[in-house]
Amino acid sequence: MGSRLIGYGSYLPERIVTNQDLEKMVDTSDEWIIQRTGMRERHFARDDETVVDMATIAAQRALDKAGITINDIDMLIVSTTSPELDFPSVGVQILGRLGSTTNAPAFDVRGACTGYIYALHCARAFFAAAIHKRIMIVGAEKMTRFIDWNDRSTAVLFGDGAGALIFEHSTSSYSGIIDTVVMSDGKEMGMLYGTPDHHIMMNGPETYKKAVTLMPEAANYIMEHAGITADNVDWIVPHQANLRIIQSGAERLGFPLEKILVTVDKHANTSGASGVLALSYAFDNNIIKKGQLVLYPAFGSGLTWGAALIRV
Ligand code: ACO
Repeated sequence: MGSRLIGYGSYLPERIVTNQDLEKMVDTSDEWIIQRTGMRERHFARDDETVVDMATIAAQRALDKAGITINDIDMLIVSTTSPELDFPSVGVQILGRLGSTTNAPAFDVRGACTGYIYALHCARAFFAAAIHKRIMIVGAEKMTRFIDWNDRSTAVLFGDGAGALIFEHSTSSYSGIIDTVVMSDGKEMGMLYGTPDHHIMMNGPETYKKAVTLMPEAANYIMEHAGITADNVDWIVPHQANLRIIQSGAERLGFPLEKILVTVDKHANTSGASGVLALSYAFDNNIIKKGQLVLYPAFGSGLTWGAALIRV
């Protein structure tokens, strides 16, 4: 049993914050941000806009695209690091908001920036076991909740937003979520974590070094496992943390620049929403087309890392 992608959707808050706007909020410059990260703008949620608000809109848009209702979804998995409530899960709240009457299960995974790969990994296992028929994956983050305006090294890096993907079971194992790998190393947690007072602590240079080796490692593992090379892959859609990390990782893997999807310039780092949002953006803008093969590596706090291979 495999799967196929039947719907996608996204939501970005209305407020766009440019690097020039950030220059007025923190001691930084447009030039520094572009040179070090490739980011030009990001979206900031309103104070009263929650992770559940953003996730629900993205989920409804994905349902509309698939031409189904929430009652056709028999499992919902949400990747988020920034829920306003400790419980219940964002997933259960989305089902409530959308009026689900099926008692379908929903839960959140907390894999930081790798969260959506963890969610895909779970979905692949449920499809393989033929337990569920239609699984929605949502990635939603309000990373601006964590911004410490006294720390310019992290304040400029993050944005808010949500994305959703819907997969349906299929007898083909060459479509939808073809393969996944996820890993973690808790010994390295000191490199990047959220503090009890909701701020981001990050050793940027050390995180950078890990990201440029671990994402390609996961991507290589997936390609070897599938018996393919970079030539067989149409697109690489890496976690959108930093343009230099994306380009260096793709180079290590032998991917030409034109096969790399980049949204970090527009959305900045949306952590556990990043890849889902990026894929929805690529579909909406007709960049990635139906039937193409996408390699999907990610990396984040934990440390966590992994990759997925998806035929969209
Ligand atoms: N504006 C201007 N100058 C700044 C800023 C800023 N916003 N931030 C830092 N600087 C300065 C520093 O003070 C330092 O100045 P100094 O040399 O006078 O001391 C200088 O810039 C260099 O600082 P570094 O931290 O060494 O800069 P670096 O080139 O490493 O870039 C960055 C920093 C962009 C954070 C980079 O290290 C990076 O991208 N790291 C990885 C981030 C990442 O991928 N995170 C992963 C996931 S996040 C998650 O899981 C939630």
